[in-house]
Order: sequence, then C-alpha cells, then structure tokens
Amino acid sequence: MKAGKKKQGSAGDTAAAPGSRTLFVCVRDRNGKGASCAGSGARALLKDMQAILAGEGIAPSELLVRPCGCLGLCKQGPVLVAAAGAAALNRKPPKVKKGKKRLGVYTQVEPDEARLVLRDALLGEHG
Ligand code: FES
Repeated sequence: MKAGKKKQGSAGDTAAAPGSRTLFVCVRDRNGKGASCAGSGARALLKDMQAILAGEGIAPSELLVRPCGCLGLCKQGPVLVAAAGAAALNRKPPKVKKGKKRLGVYTQVEPDEARLVLRDALLGEHG
C-alpha cells in the first residue's frame, strides 16, 4: 500500500452522519481495456472491508465504506480515498490529483492491508 502521509475513514451504504467519515473505494471496471481498480481486486476489497466493519460493530455513521467511480489513478489500483467532516457527507469522493500527495489517499491496497487502511480512515486526519 502506498499512502499520502496521514489518513482517516464502515459497512453498508447509508448516509453518513455529521462528523463521521467515509472511505470511497474505486470499483471502476474497464472490461479489460486498460488498468482498472476492479481488475485489481477492488470489489473484493470493498466487500472485505464492509464485512470487517460489520463484524467489529462499527456503524456506517462512524465510518461508511462505499464504492465510487474512477479516481484517476487507474494503474495504481485498488485506489481508495478517505474523507471526513463535510467531505464525508458527499456522495462523490474528494478530488485526487496525480503526482500530488493528499492525506487519506491509498493506492495498490492489498487484501491483507484492509484493516490497516480502515483503522487509518477511522482515526486519521483527512479533509
Ligand atoms: S479505475 Fe480506479 S482510479 Fe481509475
């Protein structure tokens, strides 16, 4: 996993409450026409993360893990981005810019890193 400095960031797909956090997981599939997060295992990662949070009793109002579209870093998938505060209430993820470090951006996330990313998304500092 590669991540920009510090990060922050549950299960289900319900609206986030004020003060909560959201972890957006890109699940874009290019159907074999180029690199994509779906091709890198993002959908399984999303399900694993939602199952972990449900198993640990972390409510979606604390940390919502939801799918999203392409974040623009397709060759670095699976790509995830955490949001807190007002940004966590949006249905769309915060913008991610190539070459710019941003708190709460996770790339090339491996299945065994799911808990680490969830902890960071829940506790880290994000915009
Ligand atoms: S397909 Fe996930 S960042 Fe583009």
